[in-house]
Amino acid sequence: MTKTPKVVNISDSAMVVLIGAAGSGKSTFANARFRATEILSSDFFRALVSDDEGDQDATDDAFELLHLTLEKRLRRGKLCVVDATNVRAEHRAKLLAKAAAFQRQAVAIILETPLIICVERAASRAGRSVSAAIIRQQTKELGPQLADDLLREGFASVFHISSLDQVEIERTTTATARLK
Ligand code: CTP
Ligand code: MG
Repeated sequence: MTKTPKVVNISDSAMVVLIGAAGSGKSTFANARFRATEILSSDFFRALVSDDEGDQDATDDAFELLHLTLEKRLRRGKLCVVDATNVRAEHRAKLLAKAAAFQRQAVAIILETPLIICVERAASRAGRSVSAAIIRQQTKELGPQLADDLLREGFASVFHISSLDQVEIERTTTATARLK
């Protein structure tokens, strides 16, 4: 029996924010469905400034570039997929402020992967290690109230994705002006 795909509707000028613990599958999800240039990954920007995507000392510089790129793309009405854990409201608030500044739709996609799977994946990853304690802490921040919190924060829609879901991204063309 084939499962009906879960349809994720997004405007083609939206800011899509992936939310999930380390190892939850955010980058795998994004890389399979979006163009490389649409994905703003914290790991990519860490690597860009330090040659090492796992270099936590590069985090501040990486996010500075991520936010700057987000702003430039949103201004042009270009789809942006923010691939970072995004488990903290204060981090999401900075992203939401950018989307609001350019009147772009903000969409949240929560990767609901069980803690044990995230930890197993993290342990078996080469070149980068995130401790089980950190992943547990990240997962805790994604409680059952998260979807309500996200809507309150300003996301227009919230999608929950589990690893069993077949996902289809449906892009709606919108007449977006490039803002000055
Ligand atoms: N993976 C998998 N099956 C999936 C999704 C991911 O086996 N459905 C594997 C990937 O191949 C990778 C690991 O799980 O080795 C972590 O997936 P990734 O997409 O990199 O997770 P992220 O959420 O992006 O993790 P991080 O926050 O650390 O970047
Ligand atoms: Mg990733």
